Amino acid sequence: MTNVLEVKNLSLSFRMYDGAFSRRTVRVISNLNVTAREGEVIAVAGSSGSGKSLLAHAILGILPKNASLDGEMAWFGRPLTANLQKRLRGRELALVPQSVTHLDPLIRVGKQISRDKATVARLFDRYHLEAGVARLFPHELSGGMTRRVMISAALAGEPKLVIADEPTPGLSPHLAEHAMKHFREIADSGAAVMLITHDLSLAIRFADRVAVFYAGTTVETAAAADFADTALLRHPYSKALWAAMPQNGFTPTAGAQPYAGDLPEGCLYAPRCGLRSAECAEAPPSRALRGGEVSCFHAS
Ligand SMILES: Nc1ncnc2c1ncn2[C@@H]1O[C@H](COP(=O)(O)OP(=O)(O)OP(=O)(O)O)[C@@H](O)[C@H]1O
Ligand code: SF4
Ligand SMILES: [Mg+2]
Repeated sequence: MTNVLEVKNLSLSFRMYDGAFSRRTVRVISNLNVTAREGEVIAVAGSSGSGKSLLAHAILGILPKNASLDGEMAWFGRPLTANLQKRLRGRELALVPQSVTHLDPLIRVGKQISRDKATVARLFDRYHLEAGVARLFPHELSGGMTRRVMISAALAGEPKLVIADEPTPGLSPHLAEHAMKHFREIADSGAAVMLITHDLSLAIRFADRVAVFYAGTTVETAAAADFADTALLRHPYSKALWAAMPQNGFTPTAGAQPYAGDLPEGCLYAPRCGLRSAECAEAPPSRALRGGEVSCFHAS
């Protein structure tokens, strides 16, 4: 299967100012690995603040100016440079943004989706938007309509990779399911889809693989089918996510993800981990295990 996008050992820091003179660096992504393949939906799951949106923005090349990036990103095996990102953005590389502020407030929504009226009509039909919506400005849309307009805008250009950053909040369960089916179809027609989501139970029904993020790093990449049974998962945090799913009783895990400015040494999950041992004072490298990838010394 061809890799559309490969992200290897990605780290991302922000230069922050504490008052007028003191400057510090906050690392928000560390040694993150993820691959999007042709024909596949890869779900990216992890709690709030785990770096999911920043990964999307890094891939598109739309990070704020105080961000510094390290590691490799490849597009069909070629380095994904700033020039290439600019050429691909909005065309072969499309984002369904998490925030509604990505729509231009001064341009009617139809024009923001596509100049081709037939494409707009096709997408509106699919997302149950009335034709008149094309003439509205973004502030005239409800939350659910905005979400559907943003999905339509990303899918209008026949992308090779769609990154959908939390595309379903504000949608009814029916429309959320509808959007998921559309992402699945896009992958089945040969493109890659990266589906960033909190809703793991919904995502695993449509995804092929799941990348689990914790505090800015990938702790596990598993087949979506592995989420059927905790014994099939590899990392203690993936097992904690599994236990927190509604069908598994919403069982919470004690503790909280560390704040980006205050990461522990060694394994980032160690403060919450029941399997922790002396070796976990080092950062565990990513390794292949049972057809997936895991960053944990004790996963078996
Ligand atoms: N411009 C910025 N400057 C400094 N820190 C930032 C900036 N943008 C994001 N962060 C921090 O980076 C971390 C990751 O943020 P990100 O938005 O990627 O999280 P997320 O996984 O998308 O969360 P959510 O599920 O809430 O959308 C957070 O701790 C956030 O506070
Ligand atoms: S490396 Fe150690 S602390 Fe980290 S998840 Fe694995 S067992 Fe737990
Ligand atoms: Mg986000």
